[in-house]
Amino acid sequence: MIAITDLTIQFGGIKPVDNLSARLSDPICGLIGPNGAGKTTLLNALSGFVRPRQGHVELDGTSLLALSPLERVRAGLRRSFQTEQVVEDLTVHDNVAAIADHVLARAERADAVGQALDFVRLDGVARRLGRELNLFQRRLVELAKCLVGAPRLVLLDEPSAGLVQEESAIFRDLVLRVPGHYAAQLVIIDHDVELIRFMCSQTLVLDFGRRLALGPTAEVLADPDVRRAYLGEI
Ligand SMILES: Nc1ncnc2c1ncn2[C@@H]1O[C@H](COP(=O)(O)OP(=O)(O)OP(=O)(O)O)[C@@H](O)[C@H]1O
Ligand SMILES: [Mg+2]
Repeated sequence: MIAITDLTIQFGGIKPVDNLSARLSDPICGLIGPNGAGKTTLLNALSGFVRPRQGHVELDGTSLLALSPLERVRAGLRRSFQTEQVVEDLTVHDNVAAIADHVLARAERADAVGQALDFVRLDGVARRLGRELNLFQRRLVELAKCLVGAPRLVLLDEPSAGLVQEESAIFRDLVLRVPGHYAAQLVIIDHDVELIRFMCSQTLVLDFGRRLALGPTAEVLADPDVRRAYLGEI
């Protein structure tokens, strides 16, 4: 459960997140809104990459904003970036191990990396270098990095952007298995509304940094304000 209260992020005169309050309680939550709505900025605040001007954020009752990004990772928070961050000169295994090194005792690392690679079905290419991977494999490495150790909250910023339909379907099915397998909550940003409808039972819609809607995904996507602002309907 993520509880966001009166959160404001300001860069000069711009407020990409403006007095936002929202409680995200479902296992898989969607975060949608037009380009520039503040979605990535909100993930940046949750993961500790930007410091909000005001507000509170709690993850399962733990206050997040006082923690450094690394402390948040150790508390179970993981994120992927809108542009994938696979290290080209490291193997698939070592890309994932780089996260495990920060969150697990030495004796637990090898098993945890192996389990994450098994889960995303990259165990067959564990020794391949980052630069040899295609986009789909890169997206799967990013997911494995989010799952290694004991994730409690996984934030995914357009994780399947650029994938073809069959790859996107495989990715989606993996994501759907995460809450059961890892006991973690997910928040997913995606511009593909049908993908959000399929994966996410609860959805938050941002518009100009403000909460436009929050609730069960089907209701939110049927909301006339959402359809006007986001889906381009008049
Ligand atoms: N570091 C920054 N300094 C100044 N302005 C910023 C900064 N980061 C983001 N912004 C601005 O904040 C607003 C929200 O940007 P953000 O990237 O969060 O949007 P988004 O909803 O993720 O959009 P998209 O769907 O295009 O990824 C934009 O107007 C952006 O230009
Ligand atoms: Mg973004």
